[in-house]
Amino acid sequence: MRNELLQLFLRRHACHQFLPDRALPREDLEFILEAGRLSPSSFGLEQWKFIVFEQAADKQALQAACFGQAQVGSASVVVVILARLAELHPDSPYVRRLMAREYPQAEALQGALRNYREFHAATDVPTWSAAQCHIAAANMMTAAAGIGVDSCAIGGFIPGELCRVLDIDARISQPVLVLPLGYCAHPAGEKQRLPLTEMLEFR
Ligand SMILES: Cc1cc2nc3c(=O)[nH]c(=O)nc-3n(C[C@H](O)[C@H](O)[C@H](O)COP(=O)(O)O)c2cc1C
Repeated sequence: MRNELLQLFLRRHACHQFLPDRALPREDLEFILEAGRLSPSSFGLEQWKFIVFEQAADKQALQAACFGQAQVGSASVVVVILARLAELHPDSPYVRRLMAREYPQAEALQGALRNYREFHAATDVPTWSAAQCHIAAANMMTAAAGIGVDSCAIGGFIPGELCRVLDIDARISQPVLVLPLGYCAHPAGEKQRLPLTEMLEFR
């Protein structure tokens, strides 16, 4: 298992051009989305939303909003990961519903909501919410690699342009990552990473 997981992390790579005519089987897409759904999140608030695009015209519009990056238009499927913003307000029914799963007793729920209200007021919510989405994205990319599906995280997009293509209100939710999925048209390059010694400190 240890070696298999390591191989998976080595196999996943950023694909810059996909085979445009190869379809992604529906069950593979659902498996990848499930890996996102099962991801951990701060306060268990599942801050993400996934929007799936499969039509060529939509993928072209997304590519234009991503500085023309070819991997977006050539992918079999493009998943756009949105971070919830408005729903994360402490008074929102969404927060109450999700927190009630962990705190079913009224008094415990009130206490948890009080703590959350304090946290929310002291937090840069868009940055915090986006961080959760990146965890889901990482899990989706690793899961994809596990079933032979290539991906490329795309943070290079024009936010206003992407909101327009998605037809979303940036006060309600914000695009965090564009995730093209499919089959890479080029072999993976050699993995470039610093040695562990350059990032590690035992204390
Ligand atoms: C949050 C995030 C945003 C990224 N945005 C882009 C992007 O806009 N375009 C791109 O080609 N690659 C993008 N990448 C991919 C990285 O360039 C790539 O993961 C890195 O160079 C390491 O290569 P590897 O993934 O093949 O190991 C992004 C990666 C992450 C994690």
